[in-house]
Amino acid sequence: MFKAVLFDLDGVITDTAEYHYLAWKTLAEELGIKGVDRSFNEQLKGVSRNDSLCKILALGNLQVTDQEFEALANKKNDHYVEMIQAISPKDIYPGILELLQDLKANGIKIALASASKNGLFLLEQMGLKSYFDTVADPEKVGASKPAPDLFLAAAEQVGVRIEDAIGIEDAVAGIVAIQAAGALPIGVGRAEDLGREIALVPDTRYLTYSYLQEVWQGA
Ligand code: BG6
Ligand code: MG
Repeated sequence: MFKAVLFDLDGVITDTAEYHYLAWKTLAEELGIKGVDRSFNEQLKGVSRNDSLCKILALGNLQVTDQEFEALANKKNDHYVEMIQAISPKDIYPGILELLQDLKANGIKIALASASKNGLFLLEQMGLKSYFDTVADPEKVGASKPAPDLFLAAAEQVGVRIEDAIGIEDAVAGIVAIQAAGALPIGVGRAEDLGREIALVPDTRYLTYSYLQEVWQGA
């Protein structure tokens, strides 16, 4: 049986993927860049703040100085941070709390593998921090998703071999990262976005402990 579950946060534990999208869309519009729509956003999901900004600037064919780049990244984050201040336990996606409780009760390690520097703050806001045995620090790991580094660090921090872990993600970049790391991926979302080769649930309600066991046994 699997020994750890490595969770993405934005779009898996709560709806903050939507806030990231809205904050990027606003910034792009201010810069006169068109085309940051939901379909383009699939490429931004799971991707670090700086890598996301690079993709948006490339879309608009816009070149900026290092100083301007930093100011833009900060501006997006300020807007995002403002939007997440009111997040509370009522914003936890359906089924997630029950899953965390069942994993804990069964001695399965729980780790956060989010690319977000706001991850710890969000866990605290939702009252979920105590469920997590560890939080992989995106500022300390080498490369960001789709590279495997964050998932590898998360598994290592809970002392579980990566082959004994499940990774849960809503983003293509995250699924690629889980596969590159060697854990078993479960996607939350649509096959059109995440691929047909992996276990997928349409929403978090289906992420039960028994579903995870089923996926593991069938893999
Ligand atoms: C990921 C999100 O979890 O974190 C991305 O899916 C986001 O959209 C990335 O860009 C970095 O987040 P932050 O909060 O550090 O800007
Ligand atoms: Mg995500």
